Amino acid sequence: MKKPFIVGITGGSASGKTLFLERLLSSFDPGEVCLISQDNYYKPRHEQPVDAHGVHNFDTPHSIDFEQYAGDIRKIQDGETVLREEYTFNNASKKAKMLTFTPAPVVVVEGIFVLFYPELADLLDLKIFIDAKDHIKLKRRIIRDKVERGYDLDDVLYRYEMHVMPTYEKYIKPFKNEADLIIPNNSSFDMALDVIRTYLRTKSGQRF
Ligand code: C5P
Repeated sequence: MKKPFIVGITGGSASGKTLFLERLLSSFDPGEVCLISQDNYYKPRHEQPVDAHGVHNFDTPHSIDFEQYAGDIRKIQDGETVLREEYTFNNASKKAKMLTFTPAPVVVVEGIFVLFYPELADLLDLKIFIDAKDHIKLKRRIIRDKVERGYDLDDVLYRYEMHVMPTYEKYIKPFKNEADLIIPNNSSFDMALDVIRTYLRTKSGQRF
């Protein structure tokens, strides 16, 4: 197999990256695309920085074991299979699965900092930025953090204002101009999804 085509997908927290990817990947065979998410490379809680109020800040680029993440992407690029334990966020009742990242013609790298680290950004053949208005991201994050990550509302609002938005302004938004494509996702991304699906299908076919 030839070197894979590597797509990076970024955007602020709750901009819709996961939903976009679920819809994108559902139209490919499992062996055609490998998804490797930055979320599975959070450092353990005790290594996360704590802010002036004693609250863990999961929104600095240091919260990610970036060297391991970039190293695993390089291994997949070189045709090696990678195993990694799933990150379960705040959900103590969820048993972490062992994830297997199998090399594929198309590799998708996804997360809030994938354009921030040059060593990582340099690996990407296509850079996509998913963009949504701040109040829409906040609305989505409140719902998701309650349902999927078990955080209460005060916690979500505090972290959104104190950690998530400052990080967006400093470490995510400045890289919007370095993306090849910016997809607005305030209501729907269907047309963009269709275009990217068709493009990646071509890339996948060229790499078998
Ligand atoms: O899926 P998404 O890109 O939104 O994930 C990134 C977000 O996950 C970060 O904004 C961070 O605040 C959040 N996070 C969390 N709890 C953790 C680790 C990360 O809420 N334990």
